Amino acid sequence: MKRIRRMGALSALLVAGFGATACSDAAAADGAAPELTVYATPTCGCCGGWIEHMRENGFTVEVVYQNDLSAIRAEHHLPPELVSCHMGVVDGFAVEGHVPAATVHRLLAERPAVLGISAPGMPVGSPGMEHPDGLTETYQIVSWDESGPKAVYEVID
Ligand code: CU
Ligand code: CU
Repeated sequence: MKRIRRMGALSALLVAGFGATACSDAAAADGAAPELTVYATPTCGCCGGWIEHMRENGFTVEVVYQNDLSAIRAEHHLPPELVSCHMGVVDGFAVEGHVPAATVHRLLAERPAVLGISAPGMPVGSPGMEHPDGLTETYQIVSWDESGPKAVYEVID
């Protein structure tokens, strides 16, 4: 599994060498929309909102509905404190919860040495968690690796 990840990083570097930008429109124009697999529970409404947001922002999305997400979380070593309601997997990285598409595009362009990034919990105003009155809260996107939470990757406000 580690070997696959490294190969993914290498091919991304080669692609970046051709002057690719992190712009999702550019990726879509190339026909190179990143493929995102989302693991979600069938009864979760906000997951559907996030899936729609990702589709609108340059991702090809396949959804796998499961009643129990513990196996996919364990496979990607998700720390318990970073749990949200769904997990996406894209190009070797795990994306937990309501992470904005722009942050995932940045992750794929930068390819930090992490297993994934998470928006822990259910931040109000995040993609898929829009409040009817337009309320938002500031929230953190946190990366993790095998040893647990690693760093604040981005602050969304
Ligand atoms: Cu949610
Ligand atoms: Cu969800």
